[in-house]
Amino acid sequence: MTQAVYLGQADSITECGPGLRFDLMAGGDKASGFVVRYHGKLYAYLNRCQHVPIELDWEAGQFFESGKRFIMCSTHGAIYQPESGQCAGGPCRGGRLRQLQIQEQDGAVYWLPDDYCRPAPAAGGV
Ligand code: FES
Repeated sequence: MTQAVYLGQADSITECGPGLRFDLMAGGDKASGFVVRYHGKLYAYLNRCQHVPIELDWEAGQFFESGKRFIMCSTHGAIYQPESGQCAGGPCRGGRLRQLQIQEQDGAVYWLPDDYCRPAPAAGGV
């Protein structure tokens, strides 16, 4: 059974505000994920652009463009729908951010790892 990973308190993730970043392993590589709030709901994605597989946020946690309508990659400006991760414009054409499964319980947010995205080893581990 998948072990839920505590990420933080849900009310710390504000509407279209900074995303909550966390480390993970994606297909065996070090990567990160993030959680954002959009129209009141929380959405989580692997922090990896579909244009070039690099992180989306130029400044850690800054995922929304200035209009607060899309998640934007800071490198070449690809934009994604916050609700689905679907590319909405720019060089990610046709791509989709990889959604991560999360759940809220008693005001806390938990991530449910899958076969591809797994918890990062504890700091100081090999
Ligand atoms: S790397 Fe994200 S738009 Fe190019």
